[in-house]
Amino acid sequence: MKYGYFDAEKREYVIDRPDTPAPWANYLGSPAYGSIITGNAGGYSFVESGAAGRILRYRFNEQDCPGRYIYLRDDVSGEFWSASWQPVGADLSEYRSVCRHGTGYTVIGSSYRGIETSTAYYVPTDARHEVWALTVRNAGSEQRTLSVFGYAEFTNEGHYEQDGVNLQYTQFITRTRFQNGLIAQTLNENFVKVAREDDRQCRFLALCGAEADSYCGDREAFLGPYGSYRDPKAVRDGTCDGTLNYGGNACGAVHTRLSLAPGEEKTMVFLVGQKSLSEAAALRERYHRDPKLPGEELSALTSFWHEKLGRLKVRTPDESFDSMINTWNAYQCFITFIWSRAASLTYCGLRNGYGYRDTVQDIQGIIHLSPEQAREKIVFMLSAQVDHGGALPLVKFTHKAGSENTPEDPDYARQTGHPNYRADDALWLFPTVYKYIVETGELSFLDEVVPYANRGEDTVYRHLLRAVEFSLAHTGIHGLPAGLHADWNDCLRLGEKGVSVFVAMQLYYALEILRRFAEKRGEKDRVTEMQSRQTDLADILERECWDGDRYVRGVTQDGQVVGAKCNPEANLWLNPQTWAVISGVAGDERGKVILDRVYEGLNTPYGAQLMAPSFEEFAFDGALALLFNPGMKENGGIFLQSQGWLILAEALLGRGGRAFEYYRESCPAAQNDIAEIRRMEPYAYSQFTESSESPFAGRSWVHWLTGTASTVMVGCVEGILGLRPDLDGLRLIPAIPPEWDSLSVEKVWRGKRLRIDIRNPEERESGCRSLTLNGEPLEGDRIPEEKLLEDNEIILVM
Ligand code: GLC
Repeated sequence: MKYGYFDAEKREYVIDRPDTPAPWANYLGSPAYGSIITGNAGGYSFVESGAAGRILRYRFNEQDCPGRYIYLRDDVSGEFWSASWQPVGADLSEYRSVCRHGTGYTVIGSSYRGIETSTAYYVPTDARHEVWALTVRNAGSEQRTLSVFGYAEFTNEGHYEQDGVNLQYTQFITRTRFQNGLIAQTLNENFVKVAREDDRQCRFLALCGAEADSYCGDREAFLGPYGSYRDPKAVRDGTCDGTLNYGGNACGAVHTRLSLAPGEEKTMVFLVGQKSLSEAAALRERYHRDPKLPGEELSALTSFWHEKLGRLKVRTPDESFDSMINTWNAYQCFITFIWSRAASLTYCGLRNGYGYRDTVQDIQGIIHLSPEQAREKIVFMLSAQVDHGGALPLVKFTHKAGSENTPEDPDYARQTGHPNYRADDALWLFPTVYKYIVETGELSFLDEVVPYANRGEDTVYRHLLRAVEFSLAHTGIHGLPAGLHADWNDCLRLGEKGVSVFVAMQLYYALEILRRFAEKRGEKDRVTEMQSRQTDLADILERECWDGDRYVRGVTQDGQVVGAKCNPEANLWLNPQTWAVISGVAGDERGKVILDRVYEGLNTPYGAQLMAPSFEEFAFDGALALLFNPGMKENGGIFLQSQGWLILAEALLGRGGRAFEYYRESCPAAQNDIAEIRRMEPYAYSQFTESSESPFAGRSWVHWLTGTASTVMVGCVEGILGLRPDLDGLRLIPAIPPEWDSLSVEKVWRGKRLRIDIRNPEERESGCRSLTLNGEPLEGDRIPEEKLLEDNEIILVM
């Protein structure tokens, strides 16, 4: 079943059937003022913190309510409906809803009984308030008299948990007032001393561009006894009764009446935010006086995003690939980059910092589009590395480089909930820093001095060397990297002596990156050192971890091998196979063997399982995956982040057909027509999909804020499209399905514009037969930077 489609030109996803199988969301604003909005206007808003700064209430895990509701009422017949399908939920045979989720805005349109509405929801660039800009049009042939009600439900406490459960307190601290089109809610009003009453912080809903006919600041009065969002008393009555909140539950509701001649339309704006009363009133005044403002703000927002996303443009024979790479996957990469795991309909915002590995991986998704933003975040993350080379598992939002506490201090665990180092965190720096340097050519970045989290400072290069030292100083059985508190897989407790093969592969990759840097810097001894460490590591892996047709996943503290062929459960794990290829530990030949094994043993119609069979009876102590139902999450689910590595690994082996097959299986856009199975948004990746071991194979969970966005992006850009910059230039090695006869890529690289035409007359799946740059034939598949002009035409024949 299908609930919408992609509008590629506008970079919008259009939901034209509002009864989607789950709330399909979009992101507005930034974590400074953030809003999550669904296709039915559900969702919440917060200031600074998703958990502690919640200003609009949302009931998690419920029926997508409440939301940013606008009710309409025909004042002649008394019939009412809402400008988004929910909450009133008019009969869909008569009610039409079209929701356009765009980059930083959502426009919800409705049409019912001859009245058309369009509401643009957005947070203006860098602003700390949100706008609901409404147009109401009479599309019929008779004069209409209507009422419009805007409704926002404020929390009674910034902390969403307190708001939800501590009613003996939170219900007695809230008050609302009405003044000039604006309902303002204050909390602890007596307690907060300010010089002028007007400077008191309040949450507000304001009506601009129309005059209020009635208002209400109290939820129970608005909804009525036993009332609901579907059938609120005030709307039924055609007027709010003017009740203001003094304890209980607050809301902001403002009502206005309008009369529309046939064909006539009127606009008005509702504003929501948290500011001082005087600032809120001034803001209301601005929008009240200037009806053009929303249009201008929206077009600024659109240009901002479209310019960013436009830095890579692909055109392939596959429309869903293009929609994802040009817009949606890219946009999601920016959202994960900016929001981390701050707030979604799954994450309530309780995490009070940036997860180290998540954040360092998220950066990879935007390097090809916005290296300058990536650089800033890389420096920040390096400053959260401890001076022994390990990294803080969680980097507090209040991070103070140079004087932070670390997992060695009991305080750190108390403040962050992370008791110990994880084996992989700092190793994620290698692919990220390398990608940044080869994207920009800024090798001197390695010499930039950055503080450590706890004390002291060093160059970026030394930070990286220390990251490797940390791994080498924490080894277990066979001298391989210890599993510590966890590796990438949060559910693996391999401990101080147990070892992680995935981390060993990451370490091998790290040594490779350091070797390449050392070579460029002319440090011969270091090159030799890295090479010999790589050889040693590869030898151990070969001796201890190769199991005939697969690499095992690890060894526990007491010597049990995890992921061995003979294990009754979890005997084949995806990540050590893909990372054997990505890191270079397995050469091409072995790479093909293990990835064939993956294809046979782990692939399903919706992607490859993280491991199989799921743990049920034979889990080792420390296999926390057992907590989950078989086929879900880390217990044999299709963990989508790992699909990105699988796509990349197949592409690196030159198997474009396979790479693309994996891409399609797990691509949300490719499942647009079976949205009832996938459930989550067809335009955003989710964290995992249930595998064939679940009765709901194909169902996906944990939308938007997931590492999937960046790994799949890298898998597609570096892998399938084959844009593989290195320290000597830009290598072009596409790995595509053989049936693609051509594709084109436009990209800005190191400040130069590239137009790349890839032609595939012989139905190959990878490789470069000839390459010309501005008419000049080049040797091999690499474009040297110094040969580039401002604008370049590149033709690659496969
Ligand atoms: C979640 C975590 C991530 C972890 C992954 C696998 O996505 O955010 O840090 O690597 O699960 O356990």
